[in-house]
Amino acid sequence: MLISERDGIFILETENTHYVMGVNCEGELNHLHWGKKCPVEDYFCTYKPWERSSNHSARDFGKTEYLSYGGAVYRPVALTCTYADRCRETMLTYKDFNISEQDGAFLLEIILEDKPYRLEASLFYRLREGTDIIERWSVIRNCSDSTVVLGKIASGEFNFPSKRPYTSTNFNGTWLAEFRKEETVVKNGSLVYESRKGGSDHTVSPFFVLSQNADERQGDVFFGALAWSGNFKVEVSRDCVGVTRAVIGINDFDFSYNLHPTEEFVTPSVYCGYVQGYGKMSNLMNDYAVEYILPRSFAKEPLPVLYNSWEATWFNVNSLGQQKLAEIAAELGVELFVMDDGWFGKRKDDHAGLGDWYVNRLKFPRGLKPLIDKVTKLGMKFGLWFEPEMVNPDSDLYRSHPEWTYHYDTRTPTRMRDQLVLNLTREDVQEFVFSCMDDMLNEYDISYIKWDMNRSYSETGAENLENPQELWYRHTKAVYEIADRLKEKHPGLQIECCASGGGRADLGALSHFDMVWTSDDTDPIDRLQIQDGFSLIYPTKSMRAWVTDTNRGSRPNDWDFRFNVTMQGSLSIGGNLLKYDKRELKIHKDYIALYKRIRNTVQFGALHRLANFAKDSIYANEYVYGNQCVLFLCTDVTSFFNDKFYHIKLAGLEEDAVYKFEHEGKELTLSGAYLMNVGLDYEMGGTLESKIVIFEKVQ
Ligand code: GLA
Repeated sequence: MLISERDGIFILETENTHYVMGVNCEGELNHLHWGKKCPVEDYFCTYKPWERSSNHSARDFGKTEYLSYGGAVYRPVALTCTYADRCRETMLTYKDFNISEQDGAFLLEIILEDKPYRLEASLFYRLREGTDIIERWSVIRNCSDSTVVLGKIASGEFNFPSKRPYTSTNFNGTWLAEFRKEETVVKNGSLVYESRKGGSDHTVSPFFVLSQNADERQGDVFFGALAWSGNFKVEVSRDCVGVTRAVIGINDFDFSYNLHPTEEFVTPSVYCGYVQGYGKMSNLMNDYAVEYILPRSFAKEPLPVLYNSWEATWFNVNSLGQQKLAEIAAELGVELFVMDDGWFGKRKDDHAGLGDWYVNRLKFPRGLKPLIDKVTKLGMKFGLWFEPEMVNPDSDLYRSHPEWTYHYDTRTPTRMRDQLVLNLTREDVQEFVFSCMDDMLNEYDISYIKWDMNRSYSETGAENLENPQELWYRHTKAVYEIADRLKEKHPGLQIECCASGGGRADLGALSHFDMVWTSDDTDPIDRLQIQDGFSLIYPTKSMRAWVTDTNRGSRPNDWDFRFNVTMQGSLSIGGNLLKYDKRELKIHKDYIALYKRIRNTVQFGALHRLANFAKDSIYANEYVYGNQCVLFLCTDVTSFFNDKFYHIKLAGLEEDAVYKFEHEGKELTLSGAYLMNVGLDYEMGGTLESKIVIFEKVQ
């Protein structure tokens, strides 16, 4: 049993940690411990809240599991609501608990209530054997006869043990530069990471990572990642007595929700844990996502090598052109051929056509059949691009249903990429969006959808709703439901989540989509940093990466470099194959074959980030899975005089095992202990050099 309760003290025991809560004499649920195990469980006890002064209330200083706004509270809270009698305060106290076992997982439900209003808040904690991840979420239940308006409904509140300031890591990215890691020391006040754009956005990501003296291998790291792709808010704060807390959940910005009698609101889950070192966190989350988060149908299958025509043809797709690309792609070993934007309606650029999801007969006079037949005959699967939540004003859809967009009659709609957002809170729009993809899947042999979303919302009028402020939540839910429905109806279907690159790449998306498009930036040098950031908390296999023709004049890099970067995710090809000479095609073919040899290791293995540009002027990433270990080395732009020898010590091998590999043209066999504790010198001739080394365990 991983969960126990005695006299109001709840102990959650994961593989290496304890998470402890207790009900105090006032009936509040206190947070008592999160970190290494404490073997003498009897020592845990709650404390009586005490008031420091008339300016600092007991309630404000407590370590609570789920603080609601009510009484003398002035810090970020998890729950706010307004009752029918216009009372705007919520006071939650302990009511009951349940411990159960479900599909091999242990579940704790702690029920809190606001008695006079018969509002319940159930806090759920799910634990699974063999991992340090706890899944946490909350359910707000209206057991009264009147509607309650919820204002803020976080998934959880977290308290951290040390009074010294924590370092908070998140991103400061943008379109074409997602997942750029930034660290901030939280000494006072609040640090807020949020999205108000509708999707989870390119800039920050829905998680907290709080650490002390941490690097890849050591130091305290507390983290929690929210499975939500809509507006979110992560508030990290440190109070005047040094207690650091985080509240994480759906954003309360322009949000409220009418909870009618007998209804409940289920928040998205947060996957949280405490570990030593960032490397451990990344690997725990990677394994957990593969095991429990990614859609089951393909979670444990390696993803296929994909070709996407976008950077080769842009909007100029047509049947013959695509068939020519498909012939070459198949020859190279590509397994899935994806046609991107441009195949539908009157689409010739980004000013028209979104919403008209029927085949453009000028480009495909006999529909998509000849192309798809060709692709499948060549032994590949076929995939197609959609941007189902959007409409161009220049489209038949908009002309017949202008009321289907979010809008206010008095405002001019803001056009971004010349498109508007469909009001996905309407059932008729949901049905339309589902059937535009479903119809194509019924008519054609399509195994893959790239679901794109290229703009943030604005003028978010949704007058169809009793409470229009629910739209942010309902829209994201509708996206998930449509993706789930499509997958259920078409079991072989894989769906990639794209939002102008990595604008909706989070654990919410990854609970419903099989993978994400990480960034529209396919420059391998930029990619190294994008991929490094992504790998912090998101699973490697879900990261689509393309080898393309992008090669900036000022920082030229060769095909080896591009492949050695891209093979660290789910390898895809995205260049104009028609332009390549024999030598280039052979390079592609050889690397695709090589990738197939190592892809299980990359997609499912443990990642060891051994060195990076910022500190070492080289990226050294190692993946270990079963009997194989793959090391990628990529140097930065370095000066002529810079060190050409990089000393690399591997990690995660078996000390006593012997590994065979090639080193500087010679075949070597060395023990894991040697490779990890002594290490090897790699000569890299300076700027933008790369290498891949494969180690096979031989005994
Ligand atoms: C977005 C995507 C790209 C591509 C284009 C098509 O920018 O991120 O990969 O699909 O749209 O318009």
